[in-house]
Amino acid sequence: MKKRQLRNITVSEIGMGCMGFSHGYGDIPEESYSIDAIRKAIEYGCTFFDTAEAYGPNMLPENRGHNERLLGKAISGIRKDIVIATKMHLSTEEAGNKGVYQTIKDHLIVSMKNLQTDYVDLYYLHRVNRDVPMEEVAGAMGRFIDEGLIRGWGLSQVGVDTIKAVQEVAPLSAVQNIYSMVERSSEEEVIPYCEEHNIGVVPFSPTASGFLSGKVTDKTDFSHSDDVRKFVPQLSAGNIDGNQAVLNLVNEYAKAKNASMAQVSLAWMLHKYPNVVPIPGSKNQERILENLGACAVSLTKGEFDRLDKLLNDIPVKGFRGHVEFQGDTMKEWGRKR
Ligand SMILES: NC(=O)c1ccc[n+]([C@@H]2O[C@H](COP(=O)([O-])OP(=O)(O)OC[C@H]3O[C@@H](n4cnc5c(N)ncnc54)[C@H](OP(=O)(O)O)[C@@H]3O)[C@@H](O)[C@H]2O)c1
Repeated sequence: MKKRQLRNITVSEIGMGCMGFSHGYGDIPEESYSIDAIRKAIEYGCTFFDTAEAYGPNMLPENRGHNERLLGKAISGIRKDIVIATKMHLSTEEAGNKGVYQTIKDHLIVSMKNLQTDYVDLYYLHRVNRDVPMEEVAGAMGRFIDEGLIRGWGLSQVGVDTIKAVQEVAPLSAVQNIYSMVERSSEEEVIPYCEEHNIGVVPFSPTASGFLSGKVTDKTDFSHSDDVRKFVPQLSAGNIDGNQAVLNLVNEYAKAKNASMAQVSLAWMLHKYPNVVPIPGSKNQERILENLGACAVSLTKGEFDRLDKLLNDIPVKGFRGHVEFQGDTMKEWGRKR
């Protein structure tokens, strides 16, 4: 697979989101299946794997590290060939007690242990905490880079003002925001700013939590206590109907390109921006390879321009946007379900 740059970090142009092996989409697979899935993705040419300290069943505090441990086992022995991205939440209380640098370092050390590694390639602040000055976060991340603990750092779900505030202190390698054909707010400022300033953009939910695959219907069951799809606005019964025009367009391209709809949705963003590296997630081995296969779907300039223009003309029903702030630590998140 071709490579792209997240500033200083070279990654396969499509990465893999590992979250679903631990959280977010109902029952999780057997550990051996998930490990095998990650290894098959590596064999296919994927070098970029996304996880987070928080990803564990129901996102409960006691389950933290589940996903990192899984990834650590899967890449054991080939760690140097893999780019690991993980994330941490910064609690006001913890930062107040220990200071920002020590708090983040303690989380980083836990993540490194989970991942069986002595460095993390890309370390994200999972969500902005308004109580903590972002310049302090950037200062700490810059020190970790100097100390060789991380190779680069990133922010998730941020607007351009936050990005600008940290750039002077420690330049970002990547911004990870929600982005797909039906979640395009990052196109307004964030992606252009990142492109101009050599920052990679890592879209999460690039298939809109499966919506753009065309396989989610109003019969799909999201009732499991740990299924985030019940909160995805494009997946409400009314909006699945209301957004059929997007699916029809994607399906038309899928047929013409002999590709799947999920592949077309990923190929569109790869074609659109040189600094974008999507991280589709799936807990199904065939779909993981299908999504990585989007790298083989090419669009001529004419095909892309038409697709993009038609997408611009279709109003989208249901929208999450990049909500910058999300509580304190998210420590009660799982229990709210
Ligand atoms: N920074 C953040 O705050 C944040 C938030 C959310 C996610 N993430 C990261 O981003 C990654 C991806 O995001 P996401 O999981 O929210 O959304 P996503 O990748 O757009 O969608 C995942 C969902 O789509 C389905 N799916 C994927 N490919 C498919 C295909 N080819 N055909 C049919 N269904 C398909 C999956 O079902 P199956 O599993 O059944 O295939 C799963 O239900 C996560 O793994 C995580 O690493 C980060």
